[in-house]
Parts: sequence; C-alpha cells; structure tokens
Amino acid sequence: VARIGIVGGTGPLGRGLAARWAQAGLEVSIGSRDPDRARAAADEVASRIDAPPGTVEAGTNVEVAAHEVVVLCVPWSGLEATLPDLVGPTAGRIVVCTVNPLAFDADGPYAPAVDGGSVAQQVAAALPQASVVGAFHSVSARVLADLDAPVDDHVPVVADDDEAAARVAELASAIAGCRGVVVGPLRLAATLEVLTPVLISVNRRYGTHAGIRFSRL
Ligand SMILES: NC(=O)c1ccc[n+]([C@@H]2O[C@H](COP(=O)([O-])OP(=O)(O)OC[C@H]3O[C@@H](n4cnc5c(N)ncnc54)[C@H](OP(=O)(O)O)[C@@H]3O)[C@@H](O)[C@H]2O)c1
Repeated sequence: VARIGIVGGTGPLGRGLAARWAQAGLEVSIGSRDPDRARAAADEVASRIDAPPGTVEAGTNVEVAAHEVVVLCVPWSGLEATLPDLVGPTAGRIVVCTVNPLAFDADGPYAPAVDGGSVAQQVAAALPQASVVGAFHSVSARVLADLDAPVDDHVPVVADDDEAAARVAELASAIAGCRGVVVGPLRLAATLEVLTPVLISVNRRYGTHAGIRFSRL
C-alpha cells in the first residue's frame, strides 16, 4: 500500500490512525495547516512506535493530500476552509471521510441535519475528481491511542466505488483488532455519521469508549 496522507492529522483521530498504521508497517504522512505542528505530531507518533525512520512523515495538508490515499481528520466545522485547496492534489486519489456532524445542547450530544445527506457526500461534491469513501466514524481515538491493546471494532466502509471501498477496508483491517466491513454506497454514510451521539451517550453512562461490531458476520 502506498503512503497514507492524513489531513488534520495532528488531532487525536489522525495521530491514533497514524500510530496504528505505522505500527502495522504502513507509511503515513501527518498533515496540518502548520508544518511545524505536523512535524511535532509526526515525531511524537514515531517516538511511540519502533518504526524505521521515514515511516511517519509530516507536511502541510495540501502536501499530504497528494498521497494515493488521503484521510480527512478535520472537524466538520473546518471542512469548508480545508477542501478548496485539496481539489487539485486529491484528483484521482482515494479520500476517506471520517467526519461526524456533532453538536451538543442541554440534552447532550446530537447529530445536526447535514445538507446533501451526509458529510461524505458534501466532500464528494467538493472534491469531484476524488473517489470518496466514508470510514472510521465509530472508532475511538482514545482506543486507537492505547497501542498495547487491540482495537476490537468493526469499521463500516461506504463508497460508490467498490475498489476504493475494498482498499479502505483493507487499511482498516491492517489495524490490530480492527476489521473493515464494506457496507455499500456512499449515501449510507448518513447512517454511519449519526452514530457518534449514541456512542458518546453510551460512553458517558457506562464509562467506556464503545465502538461497534456486527454480530454473525
Ligand atoms: N476523536 C475521535 O474519537 C473521532 C472518532 C471518529 C471520527 N472522528 C472524526 O474525526 C475528525 C477529527 O477528530 P479529532 O478529534 O481528531 O479532531 P480535532 O482534534 O478537533 O481536529 C483535528 C485537527 O484538525 C485541524 N483543525 C481544527 N480546526 C480546524 C479548522 N477550523 N480548519 C481546518 N483545520 C482544523 C487541527 O489541526 P491543525 O491545527 O494542526 O491544522 C486539528 O488538530 C472529526 O471530524 C471527527 O468527527 C473523531
């Protein structure tokens, strides 16, 4: 597998995925709006694993978006500012959207309605030459960060391009204890993206970092 670029890779999800993939022998590049922040995050991730030099690289978001597989790990609120500069670099690339629309009010977390059906479909509209895949919505960054424990999650993968979905499911399955599960077309991202408030509510009640698994698969 070619190097994986992680846009917004300085946050908890990006660092967690980077560490797990590097642990699995894959090459990753952490991206940020600020190259110094990307470098610091890459050094921190590399220091946590026994990976050969160069396994965890760093760059600007635009630089890392030129890799063959690009994972979007910015918050929903940051997409509008991030995507326009990625149109060129991501042409012909697989772009993985992990983004969950999430808001909080007095009753706790909820998923606000998203124009276009889902965040992943918004990304597909903004990056028309990329092959957009939705995945990793329900994997906890905290669980990913605990590198000594296998993750124990299924990772539902949605895409309109079967080949792209299969590649991303393979990347999910490369993470210790994870299994990528190809679900179906990109529009089903709408269903995956709204699970996060459920998981956060369960986490609060049961004091855990819950993920999901399909029974009898
Ligand atoms: N955390 C989880 O457990 C988890 C699990 C599944 C999915 N997700 C999804 O994964 C995404 C990342 O989650 P996270 O917790 O890692 O997020 P985060 O820490 O809030 O953000 C990740 C990175 O995005 C960049 N960023 C922040 N605001 C931005 C803006 N307005 N414009 C452009 N870039 C901005 C920052 O990097 P720089 O400042 O270095 O540019 C930041 O380090 C979210 O969309 C979330 O819904 C998270």
